Amino acid sequence: MNCSPSRIPEPAGKMPEELLARLSPQITDRMGLYFPPARWQTLENAFCLVAMDLGFQDPVACANWFISTPISRELVESLAVYLTVGETYFLREDRSFEIFTDEIIPEIIRKRGGGEQRLRIWSAGCATGEESYSIAILLARMRHFLHDWPISILATDINPRALRKAKEGVYTEWSFRTTPPWLKERYFEKCGHNRWALIPAIKKMVDFSYLNLAEDPYPSLPVHTNAMDVIFCRNVLMYFTPDLARKVVERFHRSLVDGGWLIVSPCESSQVLYPQFKAVKFPGAVFYQKQSPGTDPQGASAHEAQAWSATRSVEPLPVKERSPLLKSVPALRTPVPQGQTDFEAARSLYEKGLYLQAEQKLAPLLPPSRQNIRETVLMCHIHANQGKLAEARQLLEQAILADKLNPGLHNLRAMILQEQGDDHEAAVALKRALYLDQDLVLAHFSLANIGLRQGKHRESRRHFAQVLALLDRYRPDEVIPESDGMQAWRLREIIKATTAGIGQGDE
Ligand SMILES: C[S@@+](CC[C@H](N)C(=O)[O-])C[C@H]1O[C@@H](n2cnc3c(N)ncnc32)[C@H](O)[C@@H]1O
Repeated sequence: MNCSPSRIPEPAGKMPEELLARLSPQITDRMGLYFPPARWQTLENAFCLVAMDLGFQDPVACANWFISTPISRELVESLAVYLTVGETYFLREDRSFEIFTDEIIPEIIRKRGGGEQRLRIWSAGCATGEESYSIAILLARMRHFLHDWPISILATDINPRALRKAKEGVYTEWSFRTTPPWLKERYFEKCGHNRWALIPAIKKMVDFSYLNLAEDPYPSLPVHTNAMDVIFCRNVLMYFTPDLARKVVERFHRSLVDGGWLIVSPCESSQVLYPQFKAVKFPGAVFYQKQSPGTDPQGASAHEAQAWSATRSVEPLPVKERSPLLKSVPALRTPVPQGQTDFEAARSLYEKGLYLQAEQKLAPLLPPSRQNIRETVLMCHIHANQGKLAEARQLLEQAILADKLNPGLHNLRAMILQEQGDDHEAAVALKRALYLDQDLVLAHFSLANIGLRQGKHRESRRHFAQVLALLDRYRPDEVIPESDGMQAWRLREIIKATTAGIGQGDE
């Protein structure tokens, strides 16, 4: 097949329809993207280009490999380059950003006045970074309100090429196509013909990372997708099948703290896709808010009723039937199957995202002692997913007093410290954990990431190398302990993607 270097693929028709019919559901399962027969030409074109990139003889061989090899992140990443739509620009859908700064952030500040003062934002499907950096710029402009709150902005995408560009932070005029001039003038420096580089103070506010919303586990403490205050996932769900979009929304619900917000694009508003959330209508946009457990998001309050009716005027996504989730809003009293211990019951509630119920079930089994370490660890995860980091930390400190030589406890304390923005103390805790067990994969992984954030690239590379060596002892599909379900091959691939961008020196 002649896929010319000009990147204009041959017309479709060379791949058997039978093969395309098998590929299409696989692409949906593994990437979430929807390819009905009308879009098979795009699929074939993508395989043509990916086959060239990865050195396959032809796209058919590449497609067969994709079908027969479930663990092939390299292929998924390469396909993402050609199958995803990366259209984005600064302050896109500016009304949503106005609501974010004028309504959402002030509400979070007000509500959290006496509690844990921090802000966690996730831009899921961030493409080349314009959305995430817009968020960073707006929050930087609100510094006087946020005082010294630690702000974390996580930006994730499935397309590694887009992520590389995002990390560079260099843009052309096209990325500012509807942006007011102040944004470019104040936060960018010209660095060549039609090239603008983001200033370092804003660039360092965003952490970019690979995450496939269709396949990767979240919420997850080790990759910091838990306890989010706001998730932006705009112009992403629209490319997913309704089934997958519902699953992703459900997992976002678990990744948010109570009262947290999911922000989608106006064209993704729907009556049926977000049944766990309260739909709140603002002029020009509908946002989705996570309610406290036991609150029916479609409940009787006038405000909510108005909010739900508001979404009726918006074109829904093409969901064929009413979601079963609509009928099963999380109930405060969830029946526990007979024969389960309280610990197992609490764990299963936690896995369903019913954090408050899990906490209630587990509470009688504490305080921490040498005998109930697994209960303590589960309770810490429950707290961390609710954003109660101080409580998680206090519990861990009690547990460490009861069992000082338990490396897992020091490692978990380090994760909480990182969430609290204290990389220095986290590194001390991780070194303690490794002193007790030098084979702790996630401790090396965290030290490598902290090293990266601190610009200690040599140290970071050393820890990544140690993780890779330790991973040799795992089967590719084996789940890494304490990782919230991450399989060995995924961690390996994350490291490959991350280390590809690390410089040589300790700059
Ligand atoms: C149109 S862009 C949206 C960018 C930005 N959110 C905005 O609204 O301007 C869609 C992004 O979703 C990403 N995407 C598609 N499928 C994904 C998946 N399964 N997991 C993570 N990201 C995905 C694409 O790579 C692309 O960068």
